[in-house]
Amino acid sequence: MTNNDNNPPPPQPQLLIHRTHMPESDPHHHHQPQHSNIPGPTNTKPQNFLSKSSSTPIRYLFQKQRLLFVLIGIAIATLFFNTVPVSLPPPLLSSTTTALFHHHSNIPDSTLPPRRVLYESTTTTLREGFGFPFVSEYRAEAETESVSVGGKVPLSLPRKPLRIVVTGGAGFVGSHLVDRLIARGDSVIVVDNFFTGRKDNLVHHFGNPRFELIRHDVVEPILLEVDQIYHLACPASPVHYKFNPVKTIKTNVVGTLNMLGLAKRVGARFLLTSTSEVYGDPLEHPQAESYWGNVNPIGVRSCYDEGKRTAETLSMDYHRGLGIEVRIARIFNTYGPRMCIDDGRVVSNFVAQALRKEPLTVYGDGKQTRSFQYVSDLVEGLIRLMEGDHVGPFNLGNPGEFTMLELAQVVQETIDPNAKIEFRPNTEDDPHKRRPDISRAKKLLGWEPTVSLRKGLPMMVSDFRQRIFGDEKDMDSGSAISS
Ligand SMILES: NC(=O)c1ccc[n+]([C@@H]2O[C@H](COP(=O)([O-])OP(=O)(O)OC[C@H]3O[C@@H](n4cnc5c(N)ncnc54)[C@H](O)[C@@H]3O)[C@@H](O)[C@H]2O)c1
Repeated sequence: MTNNDNNPPPPQPQLLIHRTHMPESDPHHHHQPQHSNIPGPTNTKPQNFLSKSSSTPIRYLFQKQRLLFVLIGIAIATLFFNTVPVSLPPPLLSSTTTALFHHHSNIPDSTLPPRRVLYESTTTTLREGFGFPFVSEYRAEAETESVSVGGKVPLSLPRKPLRIVVTGGAGFVGSHLVDRLIARGDSVIVVDNFFTGRKDNLVHHFGNPRFELIRHDVVEPILLEVDQIYHLACPASPVHYKFNPVKTIKTNVVGTLNMLGLAKRVGARFLLTSTSEVYGDPLEHPQAESYWGNVNPIGVRSCYDEGKRTAETLSMDYHRGLGIEVRIARIFNTYGPRMCIDDGRVVSNFVAQALRKEPLTVYGDGKQTRSFQYVSDLVEGLIRLMEGDHVGPFNLGNPGEFTMLELAQVVQETIDPNAKIEFRPNTEDDPHKRRPDISRAKKLLGWEPTVSLRKGLPMMVSDFRQRIFGDEKDMDSGSAISS
């Protein structure tokens, strides 16, 4: 071995670089690049202008009055931004929402109703020992701040109509809600699969350009451009929700997920109609919203009770995690015109039985209690909740408490004093007591029921009388399980 073998000469850096850039196999690339600044055999001297400009940047700046031009430019820009008013984007519309909205809509900006803030302040507080945070307390402040950027809107200007989707809007509560929303000038889209709902409940809106009805199952996703979502779709009576329990829980979980997804996508406010059933067979009486409930997770009613509890969880997670504006109502027993006849709910059962001269069926000893709220009171509560600044949950119900036997007595007084009462064995998991504590709704929504059972029952009776005796065919289709 020679000395040269042990210490081979270091490879020429220039050649290595040339190899990487230009493989020898490529016959078209065997010359050095013309403008390479890498020193090489044919380009050993750096070019003059590069060396001057990079080594003496300050000198470069002072040459040919360049500094003067820069200063004049800064002065012009300052003058411009101080004198010309800058038009800011609408303060209530986040850039994400704007982008999404424009992506999905061809409607010109001027026709769009005002959108809402997507993200609320994450600051939380505990209110008066209720035991959980009321995040939305802070929304009002956030909105006030941002609204002031856009200038004042004269008070005399009417509110822009909203586009509102009501899932389950062909049902009992939903159809009354639709009536109110249409009456106040909003546009309403009803999404319903007609499982328990009926077109008859909405037929008076057909032909109104502000009303649309879509046959759709909320278990499937849907994309609509709306400002508010009232999510009611779910069978509410035990007869209906036990008919297909898997479908019931799917409606509550997947259906709610889909509608929350829609709310997120279009920046809409979302209201969930939950239920007093989340309290199960309550160990606290009356039930306040802070009570966590006593629910059997594996009983025959669980598809509904646990489904609604999960729907509440999903709503809060979308609110906390994604900033979606949600509202949660826990509805207690509600009655009124357009209830399904023979749907197993105690008021509709008693009324239909008394009208048909059948005995009133009381399950158990009849001493279990319920509260009964007239539907117009509920609708008022739902609208106040949606329009207000509080997430909830809020109990919406009538605190007047009746035993089943007392209710049967009111029905006898209203329809037929000679109606007989028949006792039957009680159903599984039937709660013993139910009465809402509505102090929170009173205080924060300024809401309380105004229609007593003795005043509301006759209004329901005349609707049932007309449906049972006026058109027997209609009644059948109304109570049919169609899906
Ligand atoms: N009425 C009450 O006493 C009461 C009490 C507590 C809670 N709630 C809640 O209020 C809401 C409305 O109740 P209601 O009394 O009007 O009941 P309802 O059965 O009269 O109305 C429910 C509506 O939802 C529709 N629906 C059901 N599943 C659907 C699905 N998968 N996709 C689309 N539409 C579907 C039905 O066709 C019907 O129109 C329900 O969410 C219910 O849980 C009602």
